[in-house]
Amino acid sequence: MSEPEHRTEILPPDAAGIARAAAVLQAGELVALPTETVYGLAGDARNPQAVAAIYAAKGRPALNPLIVHVADLAAAERLADLPPPALRVARAFWPGPLTLVAPLRAGHALAPAVTAGLPTVALRVPAHGLARAVLDAFGGPVAAPSANPSGRISPTSAAHVLAGLSGRIAAVLDGGACPVGLESTILGVKDGAPVLLRAGGVSAEALTEVLGAAPMAGGGGQVTAPGQLPSHYAPRAPLRLNAQAPAADEVWIGFGPDCAGAELTLSATGDLNEAAARLFAVLHEADAMGRAIAVAPVPERGLGVAINDRLRRAAAPR
Ligand code: TXA
Ligand code: MG
Repeated sequence: MSEPEHRTEILPPDAAGIARAAAVLQAGELVALPTETVYGLAGDARNPQAVAAIYAAKGRPALNPLIVHVADLAAAERLADLPPPALRVARAFWPGPLTLVAPLRAGHALAPAVTAGLPTVALRVPAHGLARAVLDAFGGPVAAPSANPSGRISPTSAAHVLAGLSGRIAAVLDGGACPVGLESTILGVKDGAPVLLRAGGVSAEALTEVLGAAPMAGGGGQVTAPGQLPSHYAPRAPLRLNAQAPAADEVWIGFGPDCAGAELTLSATGDLNEAAARLFAVLHEADAMGRAIAVAPVPERGLGVAINDRLRRAAAPR
C-alpha cells in the first residue's frame, strides 16, 4: 500500500458533502462513497492517475480490474455493448446490487488500468441515494472497488473505511451503514448465455426468475472474476465455519434462535437479509476482539449463498 499522505476528510451526508465528494473526484483524488452494498473507493474512471491511486491505496494487484459505476443504463451503454441477457437483468435490477461484465465499446474513454487490460468492463448502477447524487454531480463514470485494503474485510460503515484507509485517501462520505451489506452479484455473458461470476446482493433465484433459467456457474469453481481469490475478506484472526458451538476462547458468531448463547449474531431470528447486512460489521467486531472466530452454519439459499461464499474466503488458508 502507498504511504499515508492525507488527512482524510469526513464528509457529511448532505448537499455540501455531496458537492465536496464530486469536487474531490474532479480533482483526480479519491473519496470513499456509501453504496447499498458496501463502501466503494471512488475515483474518476477516465483519469489514469486517479485509477493508479485506487490500486495504490488498496494495495490491490494490478491484474484485478475495477467496477465502473454510472448513473443509468444509457450511461452504461456508452461504455459497453450489453448483450440481450445483460440488458434484461439491467432493466430488472438497476439501480441495484448487480454488476454486468460486457465487451468495451469503441471510444469508451476509460483509463486502460480500470479493466486491467481486459476487452470487457464491469458496470453497475448503484441504488444508494448518496452514491447516485455524487454520480449526478460529477457527471462521469466512477471506478470503485470496495474501500478496504486488498484482501481484508469489506467496509459497511465510514468507520470501517477509516480503519483500513485513513490517511491514504482524500475523503469519505459518511452515509451510515450500507443496507444490503454484501457486494453486488456479478453476471457475465459467454456465447450468449449468462454466467454467474460472483454471488452477491441479487440472489441466483431472483436472476433465474428474470432470465427464465439459472445462470451458469462461473467456470465450474474456477476463478473467473479475477478478484475471486480463495483468500479474501480475511479477518486477522483464524476463522472456523459451520461451528455448532465455540471452542475455548473462540468468539462465536451465531445465526438463528438455536445460537442464543453466542457472543455475536448475524441474525437472532435467522433472517438472511439481516445476516447479509450485518456480516462484515460483525466480522470487523469479532476481529477487534483479538480471538479466534467460529461461525454457526448459514443455510445455502437466497443471500445465504453469497454469505457462505464470503465466509469460505474469510476462512481460507492465506
Ligand atoms: O458491490 C460492489 O460490487 C462493490 C461496490 C463498491 O460497488 N464493489 C466491489 O468491487 O465489490 P471489488 O473491486 O471489491 O470487486 C470487483 C470484482 C472483482 O472480483 C473483479 O475481479 C471483478 O469485479 N471484475 C471487474 N472487472 C471485471 C471484468 N472485466 N471481468 C470479470 N470480472 C471483473
Ligand atoms: Mg472487494
